[in-house]
Amino acid sequence: MRTAAERVIRAAGAAITARGRFDWGLAGGSTPAALYRLLASDGYRERVEWSRVHFFWSDERSVPPQHADSNYRMAREALLDAVAPASAHVHRIAGELAPAEAAERYTAELASSFGLEPSAGFPSFDLLLLGMGPDGHTASLFPGTPALSETRRWVVANEVRALGTTRLTFSLPLLNASRAVLFLVAGADKAERLEQVLSERADPPLPAQLVRPRGGAPDWLVDAAAGAKLALPIEGTA
Ligand code: 6PG
Repeated sequence: MRTAAERVIRAAGAAITARGRFDWGLAGGSTPAALYRLLASDGYRERVEWSRVHFFWSDERSVPPQHADSNYRMAREALLDAVAPASAHVHRIAGELAPAEAAERYTAELASSFGLEPSAGFPSFDLLLLGMGPDGHTASLFPGTPALSETRRWVVANEVRALGTTRLTFSLPLLNASRAVLFLVAGADKAERLEQVLSERADPPLPAQLVRPRGGAPDWLVDAAAGAKLALPIEGTA
């Protein structure tokens, strides 16, 4: 995770120098927790101007912020509590609301934070962290789910039948409007799909394969287990 932490620190410094703020899309799930804790630790925490960081989430479960499954809660416990950003800079998805309402509210929050109307295009995050599930999903864009075909809206409520729930997620065009995307992938259960995504062999393409940010191809940091089937090793997440 040291490599990932250095990437975040570098991206934050560049964005703050260029634009006075760092718009950072956080990933959910479990893998990024180690990165967030590292960034909160001595030797790392003091290397980011946290007062200039705006925190966003690329997806959220339909749960309240104190729920064990909340992506917001994971990041708050691993990082936000340690760096104490202004509450106005923490843009939480209101998972406690009805999903359609939560998606609308978050769209309005993004529009206000970026000063951009939803009809005028897509806001660009300086860095978007993403994970990948064993089925090749990313954010909460799961294979075969309706949100994968969304081309206009920024945030959608996506029914994920396989999980028996509805999740809030950025749409693909919003993910792809990012200046930079960094995937963090860990675990042997990802190896098969990761090889398919990176070789672009999956047909139809897997959701993670469809992430093609305007700022250039995504970066991938994977651990040895997830990268076990790759012909060319990629930088590890160690
Ligand atoms: C979520 C994430 C999801 C996650 C992958 C990988 O809300 O769960 O956004 O896309 O990144 O499922 O999860 P792990 O890091 O737990 O393997």
